[in-house]
Amino acid sequence: MADEPVRVMGLSGSISATSANQSLLTLALRAAEQAGAETVRWDLEENPLPLVGAAGSWEDENVKEFQEMAKSVDAFIVSSPEYHGSMSSVIKNQFDWLYFEHVEGKTFGVMSTLGGQTNSNTLNHLRLVVRWLRAWVVPTQVAVGKVKSAFNEDGELEDEELASRVEKLAQEVIDHAIRMRD
Ligand SMILES: Cc1cc2nc3c(=O)[nH]c(=O)nc-3n(C[C@H](O)[C@H](O)[C@H](O)COP(=O)(O)O)c2cc1C
Repeated sequence: MADEPVRVMGLSGSISATSANQSLLTLALRAAEQAGAETVRWDLEENPLPLVGAAGSWEDENVKEFQEMAKSVDAFIVSSPEYHGSMSSVIKNQFDWLYFEHVEGKTFGVMSTLGGQTNSNTLNHLRLVVRWLRAWVVPTQVAVGKVKSAFNEDGELEDEELASRVEKLAQEVIDHAIRMRD
């Protein structure tokens, strides 16, 4: 177990595969893989999650599989767009399907994208929710402001410093998850 690779699950606060948050998550998960982790992510386009409490939602098969995937990992990297100064309902709904049995004591890295100037509102709100789930967020965080011009055609971040920060975040998530095994 101690030698097994850290398993990291990516959670996106935007549904579309072509969204900025899915792109940012792709970069972070790639960095995690390069640092030796195994990664998984839930495809919200193919397997939508119902709103918590919607008719039939408690018995929903996608929800059960989503929860099983979450239970199987050591760590999470989350990326949410900022909507009206906070996280998207898409990411909050995913958090709301997770309970202590899926996430307690595990490690999180948090990232956000903004149409406007970079700020930490969404990142701080993500930290608050993760704390409520009794899990741990690493110190390094990533906010991508002016997101429309932040990525090049290949889906890479134009700002090299920001790109390095994504790699640092992924490494911290892995290092912390390993320390949590002890
Ligand atoms: C409902 C809504 C609210 C938004 N509120 C904010 C905001 O408060 N601050 C901001 O900088 N951008 C805001 N935006 C812009 C989004 O943050 C931006 O479109 C998003 O980060 C792009 O990521 P995506 O491609 O993953 O959707 C808002 C967009 C929408 C649709």
